[in-house]
Amino acid sequence: MSDFDARLLAERAQEARRWAYAPYSHYAVGAALLAASGRVYDGCNVENAAYPSTICAERVAAVKAVSEGERDFVAIAVATANGGMPCGSCRQFLAEFGVDLAVLIVDGQGAIVKRTTLADLLPDSFGPAHLPRP
Ligand code: THU
Repeated sequence: MSDFDARLLAERAQEARRWAYAPYSHYAVGAALLAASGRVYDGCNVENAAYPSTICAERVAAVKAVSEGERDFVAIAVATANGGMPCGSCRQFLAEFGVDLAVLIVDGQGAIVKRTTLADLLPDSFGPAHLPRP
């Protein structure tokens, strides 16, 4: 993806942080997922008093996209105050739809501090191809 598109996606992720519901950790996360269709789906973390029921920003964005018919993704930007990386659960969840996904890590100032791919973040992943087809 172009530097220009990366910049736009990073801005969307940074803006999405504002909606984070994080009364327990106070760690706001924003995500912006670019689909092959050209549409961008935003997400933020949504915490819960029953802590494990919390949903991460990346999975919120992915679920919004898939529930609207998207399955092909180009890139995801993830914004936090300190350039935090996607958790293991989110890596696995996103890998379902392909590990060629570009991953942009964005800091609290909106700077892209890392550009990588899901394949690099989750090597030798388990995926749909490992399950036998009926
Ligand atoms: N969080 C995310 O939204 N994405 C990640 O990949 C890592 C963690 C959220 C979950 C929780 O609301 C807060 O960050 C602290 O773990």
